Amino acid sequence: MLQLTGMRMEDLPEVMALERAGHDFPWSEGVMASCLSRHHRARLLYEDQVLVGFAILQEVLDEATLLNMVIAATARRRGHGRWLLERLIAEVDAGVSVIHLEVRPSNHAAIALYESMGFNEYARRPRYYPRRGGGYEDAMLMALTLASDTMRL
Ligand SMILES: CC(C)(COP(=O)(O)OP(=O)(O)OC[C@H]1O[C@@H](n2cnc3c(N)ncnc32)[C@H](O)[C@@H]1OP(=O)(O)O)[C@@H](O)C(=O)NCCC(=O)NCCS
Repeated sequence: MLQLTGMRMEDLPEVMALERAGHDFPWSEGVMASCLSRHHRARLLYEDQVLVGFAILQEVLDEATLLNMVIAATARRRGHGRWLLERLIAEVDAGVSVIHLEVRPSNHAAIALYESMGFNEYARRPRYYPRRGGGYEDAMLMALTLASDTMRL
C-alpha cells in the first residue's frame, strides 16, 4: 500500500540516503533541511511502511516549482513517481496556475515521466548543470499549466 506523509527533520538521514543514491550531484543536508519551511511541500512516499521516495515542491504566489524528486532504484518503473507527482500536484493551492521544473536533457526517465503528465519544454539554460566526469549540461525548463478545474485535494 502506498502512503504519503510530510517530511520532518528526523526523516533527513533516510531522505539523504535516497538523495545521494538518486543524483550524481546530491543536495547537501542543509539544503534539504531548508525545504521543511512552510513555503515547501516536502512529501515522503512509503510502500508498506518502507520509504521508497520523496518529492519537494515550492509554492510562491500563483506559481509552483518542483525542486526535487527521487524514487528508490529498487522501486522504479512501478508507477510510484507518477503517483507521487499526481498527489503533490493535487495538493497545491487553488491559486497556483503553473508548475515549473528543471531537468537534465540526459535524464530520459524523468523527462518521459514529466511529458507523460503534460509538462512541456519551454526553454533551456545553457551549460547549467555540472556533468559527472567534467563539463556542463544544459537545463531543460518544463512547465505544466493547471486548468482551473484541475482536481485539488
Ligand atoms: C525519474 C524517476 C523519479 C521516475 O520514477 P518511477 O517511479 O520509476 O516512474 P514511474 O514508474 O511512475 O514512471 C511513469 C512513466 O515515466 C516514464 N518513465 C519512467 N522511467 C522511465 C525510464 N527509465 N525510461 C523511459 N521512461 C520512463 C514512463 O512513461 C513511465 O510510464 P510507463 O512505466 O507506464 O511506461 C526515477 O527514475 C528517479 O528517481 N530517478 C533518479 C532521480 C531523478 O532523476 N529525479 C528527477 C529529477 S530531479
